[in-house]
Amino acid sequence: MKEELQRIKAEALDAIKGLTDQRSLQDIRVKYLGKKGEITALLKGLGKLSPEERPKAGALVNAVREELEAKIDAVKTRMEAAELNARLEQERIDITLPGRAPKSGHIHPLTAVNEMIEDFFMKMGYTVEEGPEIEQDYYNFECLNLPKDHPARDMQDSFYITENFLLRTHTSPVQARTMQRHEPNSPIRMIAPGKVYRWDYDATHSPVFHQVEGLIIDEHITFADLKGTLESFLRHMYGDETKVRFRTSFFPFTEPSAEVDISCVMCGGEGCRVCSHTGWLEILGCGMVHPDVLRMNGYDPEKVKGFAFGMGVERIAMLLYGINDLRLFFEDDVRFLEQF
Ligand code: PHE
Repeated sequence: MKEELQRIKAEALDAIKGLTDQRSLQDIRVKYLGKKGEITALLKGLGKLSPEERPKAGALVNAVREELEAKIDAVKTRMEAAELNARLEQERIDITLPGRAPKSGHIHPLTAVNEMIEDFFMKMGYTVEEGPEIEQDYYNFECLNLPKDHPARDMQDSFYITENFLLRTHTSPVQARTMQRHEPNSPIRMIAPGKVYRWDYDATHSPVFHQVEGLIIDEHITFADLKGTLESFLRHMYGDETKVRFRTSFFPFTEPSAEVDISCVMCGGEGCRVCSHTGWLEILGCGMVHPDVLRMNGYDPEKVKGFAFGMGVERIAMLLYGINDLRLFFEDDVRFLEQF
């Protein structure tokens, strides 16, 4: 038995020597020390020995068992350390590489201009109102003095969802909605920024664009108030030197109506390509609220007057920043957006 024990021990130690992975090590542990292992078999065999021989033989076998166990544990610990080191080596982070700065976002130029407009009018005591983009024919046209088949509807060709619902073509329906929400004849001072839709697409038109509407109603509102308000607004946006001109125009919901021009932002009024050599740039539409519009929305034109205006935010921004293609606003190219 002694020789047998020595042979097993030598064989086991030899087998352990060349091992590199934990799984084979575990196989060795099972082969010699497991329930059916060779050392275990020897321990079980002790029963067959005489009582005198038994303690000595038992001590021998146990000594070898402990030695093998210790050896296997030691190798296992070494293997684990080596594996950990290999992994650390592999997943090593090179902290000497230069850092990558996170890209910071930019306010979209349209958002920036919208905020400038809102700031100006809020300081003048205007509230900011909203209306739905999918609008009823009634609010978009009818109660703004544009009955069905009115030829002025052609100026605003749009996207219809049903007979009676369309993507709003301007922010003017918010005028009607706000009047109808108010007590009849109570004063209103509001702007309404938002998206509008028309069937257009070229360098200066997009099927979706942004407008800001304005409406003021009170007892003593005159055309002089309209002029004063819009002149100070446009000088606020384009600088104190800006000249402002009112031209007669037509909108079914205002009477009289005017188109407002500013002196060309490029040439200052000398005449250049941008202003088609006129020195002027058209910037917004406005007028005194038509008596019928007041009436249709619950107000009495004998008691109150009002003025309204509407402007395209893209156009305001293009002239402010010298952008020559409106489609750039919607392409989300960071090389463009970064510049604002
Ligand atoms: N709603 C008009 C348009 O989109 C602009 C406008 C608004 C004109 C208010 C007069 C008064 O063209």
